[in-house]
Amino acid sequence: MKLPVRYPQIDFESCFPKWAPDLEFSMMMNSNSILPAHLEPYIIKVFAQAKPHLDPVRDAALIRELDWFVAQEAQHYRQHIRFNRVFQTARYPEVEKLGKAYAADLDGFLKNRSLIFNLAYTEGFESGGGVFYRLWFEKLRAFRMGANEEALKLWDWHYAEEFEHREVAYKIYMAVAARGNWARRIWYGYFYRVYGVLRMIAHGTQYSRPIAQHLLEVERGDMTPAEAAESKKRHKRLTRKITGMTMGGLLAVLSPFYNPARKPPPKGLDEVLQQFDTGGSSAKIPAKA
Ligand SMILES: [Fe+2]
Ligand SMILES: [Fe+2]
Repeated sequence: MKLPVRYPQIDFESCFPKWAPDLEFSMMMNSNSILPAHLEPYIIKVFAQAKPHLDPVRDAALIRELDWFVAQEAQHYRQHIRFNRVFQTARYPEVEKLGKAYAADLDGFLKNRSLIFNLAYTEGFESGGGVFYRLWFEKLRAFRMGANEEALKLWDWHYAEEFEHREVAYKIYMAVAARGNWARRIWYGYFYRVYGVLRMIAHGTQYSRPIAQHLLEVERGDMTPAEAAESKKRHKRLTRKITGMTMGGLLAVLSPFYNPARKPPPKGLDEVLQQFDTGGSSAKIPAKA
């Protein structure tokens, strides 16, 4: 497996907060863009700490994958930071504050919690997030109709690469935490991994939910009371729908038999990735003449 670094050509100047016809969907996705700007730099630091714990011989292939993974994530958070500038206005005063509070929590984890905790949290993001990325490609396509192509590119590129490197965090967590005697393999290989997934989802939601709520409240400020009430209803329906859609995938992640290597990629993944490969239609680096 080789994980290339792709540089997407995205015109962020043409992105705006309501980038899809469905306001509530746009804002939910926007709230999902705030956390990676802080989370992915944190993951890179966690993996830098994990690397010396891997065996240079036994884990040689995994060490290469770790480096490729880090190179991909380093691009992801940079592009999200560029997209997130659209919220750095007086119109959305809470977004930056909530993002910074999340970043402060992650700094605290790095300072005060064990490497295994930080790896479990990271693995939780990669596995739990993978459930949503599949929805993006397979079940949420209707929301793309009439949406801004530049914003769609950000999600397509990021989520496709998340699928591409879906095994790496799991393998690093298992190598560092769950090797050794049977008690260690059961405790860290299953129970603590599940704790990491649930902890990450609960902690991330603690920030992403109020961000979405804030963005929507600001938009509702420009609406009539009847329109605002409709928006609230639509948001509730969307939240229920997404929660329902993620349940099956989440249960699979929590299973003792979970192994991301066995996850089939969503349909059309290769085409999406090729679009961003060097020379692709949405790549910053054109094909060599
Ligand atoms: Fe990422
Ligand atoms: Fe990732």
